[in-house]
Amino acid sequence: MIIGIGNDHAAVELKKAMMEHVTSMGHECIDYGAQEGEKMDYPVPGRAVAEAIVRGEIDKGILICGTGIGISITANKVPGIRAAACSEPFTARLCVEHNNCQIIAFGSRVIGEGTAKDIVDAFLHAEFEGGRHARRVELIGAVDEMYRRDAESADTDDGGQA
Ligand code: RB5
Repeated sequence: MIIGIGNDHAAVELKKAMMEHVTSMGHECIDYGAQEGEKMDYPVPGRAVAEAIVRGEIDKGILICGTGIGISITANKVPGIRAAACSEPFTARLCVEHNNCQIIAFGSRVIGEGTAKDIVDAFLHAEFEGGRHARRVELIGAVDEMYRRDAESADTDDGGQA
């Protein structure tokens, strides 16, 4: 798999450890995040990884900021993306099996390297179960679609000037 990884300045060390971990499992890892000594606000890597998934350039994403919250909120703003912030492996597995999440997010100020590795393992090994979960994931997509259509019609709305 090709895994995209993104982090802000609060998570450079944990990002490096996760890159090593992911590549040691035989995956390719593309780094969209902050480097040592660089300040990067979490929406920047959150958006970059989410958009790379939508464009089909990477298969899955790992996002890390201080809490995992800001970076996952950002990723979830990209239509079609389902990103889960979590602090333990159970949720990391279920967010794929039930929610078909393409991105896992966690916080460098919340969990240590060992738990982060367990989360990444659970996330990468899980498979979407489909069935009744597929209908629910489609309903999530319908929300995206509804707001996309509203935005498009607002773009073409001439405000009653015609
Ligand atoms: C940066 O200090 C911090 O706010 C960020 O890493 C993250 O925790 C935001 O959700």
